Amino acid sequence: PFVVIENCIKCKYTDCVEVCPVDCFHEGPNFLVIDPEECIDCTLCEPECPAKAIYPEDDVPAGQEGFIALNAELSKQWPVITTRQDPLPDAAEWDGKPGKLPLLER
Ligand code: SF4
Ligand code: F3S
Repeated sequence: PFVVIENCIKCKYTDCVEVCPVDCFHEGPNFLVIDPEECIDCTLCEPECPAKAIYPEDDVPAGQEGFIALNAELSKQWPVITTRQDPLPDAAEWDGKPGKLPLLER
């Protein structure tokens, strides 16, 4: 499956959700995750993310491996999102900032 990594946090552009053919994105307050049991590896979402926050599980950047389990865990708790919405207000400022994991809201 594909995995949403740290740079989505506090950006949440949501362009990704519109292209997913199996509706496997789930939405939290300031982050999205992919349900690994639903993702069919179609690859469509990866280029849609302006924050480059979507990777194949086998190719997540170094240091981001914890997001594989986090996507699995939070997709069980958060509701499905299928419609694009406005990014979070300060998305442009947070895009690319390192160390956002402690800011993840559940
Ligand atoms: Fe959905 Fe395809 Fe992205 Fe998986 S790779 S989350 S199926 S758009
Ligand atoms: Fe997040 Fe990128 Fe989607 S910032 S909400 S993974 S378009």
